[in-house]
Amino acid sequence: MAHTTRRELLKWTVAAVSPLSYALSSAQIVLKHNPFSLGVASGAPNHHSVVLWTRLMPEAGSGNLQFASTDVTVKWEVADDESFKVNRRAGQVVALAALAHSVHLELDGLQSDRWYFYRFQFGDAQSTTGRTRTLPHPEAMVQKLRVAYASCQRWEHGYFSAYDHMCQENLDLVLFLGDYIYEYAGAANAVRLPTGGWVKSLDDYRERYALNKSEKGLQAMHAQCPWLVTWDDHEVSNDYAGLERGQSGNISFNFAAQRASAYQAFYEHMPIRASALTRSIDGLIQGAELRIYGQVAYGQLANFYLLDDRQYRDRQVCNKLGTYGSGFVNPDQCEDWFNPKRSLLGAEQSQWLDQAFENAQKDKRPWNVLAQQTIFGRRDFKVGEGYTLWNDGWDGYSAARQKMTQSMQNYGLKNPVLIGGDVHENWVGHVMADAYKDDSAKIGVEFCGAGITARSAGNSKLTARLAENPHFIFADSERKGYGVVEFTPKQIKTELRVVDDVRQKQTKIETLAKFVVEAGVPQVQRTG
Ligand SMILES: [Fe+2]
Repeated sequence: MAHTTRRELLKWTVAAVSPLSYALSSAQIVLKHNPFSLGVASGAPNHHSVVLWTRLMPEAGSGNLQFASTDVTVKWEVADDESFKVNRRAGQVVALAALAHSVHLELDGLQSDRWYFYRFQFGDAQSTTGRTRTLPHPEAMVQKLRVAYASCQRWEHGYFSAYDHMCQENLDLVLFLGDYIYEYAGAANAVRLPTGGWVKSLDDYRERYALNKSEKGLQAMHAQCPWLVTWDDHEVSNDYAGLERGQSGNISFNFAAQRASAYQAFYEHMPIRASALTRSIDGLIQGAELRIYGQVAYGQLANFYLLDDRQYRDRQVCNKLGTYGSGFVNPDQCEDWFNPKRSLLGAEQSQWLDQAFENAQKDKRPWNVLAQQTIFGRRDFKVGEGYTLWNDGWDGYSAARQKMTQSMQNYGLKNPVLIGGDVHENWVGHVMADAYKDDSAKIGVEFCGAGITARSAGNSKLTARLAENPHFIFADSERKGYGVVEFTPKQIKTELRVVDDVRQKQTKIETLAKFVVEAGVPQVQRTG
């Protein structure tokens, strides 16, 4: 699309849209394959609406580009039941060629706290049926919520079978916390190799999303319930920071343009709202922001704050020899370590979050959940005196972290729960009033996830590392999987669910550890 205004884009995503005159109706296309091979998904739910996603794929390998450069219309159906008999509604939505024929249908006017079923048709092809749900009304009393958190799906490190098990967890919502794809061409001792080599161009990013989405368990989990998604670095490139390149083998001459392509592909493959395109499609293609941070209330039970700590961050500091990317740093020898001008969330998002915490003073929701990319608590890698800290996580932005925990305290934020990913290890512990004072007050709890497949270093040094960082009570650097958090008004229960071996297609699941947090007490206790 040459000139797509924001208003036009929003118009196309609403449910009641009539077929546009220039968009090719599916009746005009004879298909030789099922174009819904990437499945369906739903996301960005609130109490009256949800985004329904799919993407039409052209036929693979044959050069048959029946609709490659044409905008098309796709039929959708929604009902209360799986056989589409009760309260069936139907309509059409446009799939733009410029957005790889992805569909982001923002279905509105739904009832709160309800399950819905949906599917798409194009020509004589039909998608699988997805199930989704709206959130409870913000004023509704809610007795229970079951959420899983997941991250880090590195294709070459293993199979995504954790999702086969997640499908059985009876979840209301999935939090995906970054590294949905990796940009790498492969890995040493790879379980399998991704197609396409290093990911650099828009077509490369699209191909990598399509590859990861070929995992049936992942598709099945997307079809089970809505997801709230954010990203980390590998959706673009390892260790990038804002518009600064990181340290990876996929860097193009024009990193800003590469980032724009990566953001576009993310939008195309995730069930997120068109309002993320703050300057419409043209803006996205030209490198404008893709605003994925936001807040949603889950009845009277919890506030969820979804953060973006990649897009707006300042560059990492004190890398050896001034190289790009991340590294381990002694903060005593790094002038900028505590520089209050350095930001992880950017000025606008930080201000928004501070305001959100202030607003939360006025509500009674017992849980305030920060779903974000990386580990929040200090992780000192040096045993004994002094510190060795990693500059890519919150440690590397210590002043920004301190500002955030101060803001939580200023507004008396009720029961902060930090949930993160990125580090490929399970970490469970406490949010401290001062991350550098082990005897400062505990003000919240943290769960950082191991990731679906991405490898970790092993447990040999973990006992010493835990002793060095006593605000954490549990860590594991071997097992892969996801966490399940069950929220009730009085407590949360978390189970770390892990598979036996990601190198096998078929796996067994088990619980690595269990924890409880009581509302009003910022203390996480291991119970199993
Ligand atoms: Fe990762």
